[in-house]
Amino acid sequence: MKFAPMKEILELAEERKIAYGAYVTVSYETALAAIEAGSELNVPVIFITGTDCCDLMGGFAGTVETVKRAAEKATVPVALHLDHCRTYEECVEAIQAGYSSVMIDGSSLPFEENVALTKKVVDYAHTLGITVEGELGKLVGEEGDLIVKGPDAAQTDPEEAREFVKRTGVDCLAVSIGTQHGHYTFAPQLNIERLKAIKAVVDVPLVLHGGSGTPLDQVQEAIRCGIRKINVATDVLTAVADSFGQLKEKPDFKYNTAMFINSKNAAKELIKGKMNDFRFEKK
Ligand code: 13P
Repeated sequence: MKFAPMKEILELAEERKIAYGAYVTVSYETALAAIEAGSELNVPVIFITGTDCCDLMGGFAGTVETVKRAAEKATVPVALHLDHCRTYEECVEAIQAGYSSVMIDGSSLPFEENVALTKKVVDYAHTLGITVEGELGKLVGEEGDLIVKGPDAAQTDPEEAREFVKRTGVDCLAVSIGTQHGHYTFAPQLNIERLKAIKAVVDVPLVLHGGSGTPLDQVQEAIRCGIRKINVATDVLTAVADSFGQLKEKPDFKYNTAMFINSKNAAKELIKGKMNDFRFEKK
């Protein structure tokens, strides 16, 4: 099987005015969870893996192999995306290992350096038909070794976003409009006016990171206003952790590999719920 370019999945989302979730995977079971969910609901699957996730599956080659195995029976397009990569070299390595999409995250760099780094990745990736996501603005929270504390967080500036997309040629843009990576430490209030202003001047699909725990009405409003990909990691991992946690309440629990099937099914149900939430009919 061959991974689909993420760009094509996002173009489909744009056509339908919906968003597709992008789900974390750290193992064969978590990959299978999303594949089964997508195949049952006829929704394309995007996998997000930070380098911390790849480390759990044997590096980029191991991740490609693990996800391909899980996707053997998929009946929908499947994209494998490298999340929050901060170096050109690692993007190249992932692409050579078989990824169909990479995110080059230069959001912690000064604007000009972010443009230069992102364009360098785009120039390489596009010769091979690989999708590139860039990021402007910073989300509060922790994602692997990327830690952004409150006062450092900055929402995306629409004019900078327009210039960034034009100069880099990215296929999609992650924007910061008030979500947080990981469990929320404050009540989220998405900046929909800012999102509208970005959408008005940027002609590539927009990406929302920090999809976990964000109130559904706000997520759906963001989709109405142009978000086409929503990253979900913490909610998937919480579903897995909870399924293992429930074992403590079973005093008769014995060694039993079915606990991994249960955790896969818990992640699958969570993902099915998100898939339905994100493809609601436009009002
Ligand atoms: P959550 O962990 O909040 O779902 O965020 C995931 C994410 O944005 C990965 O890039």
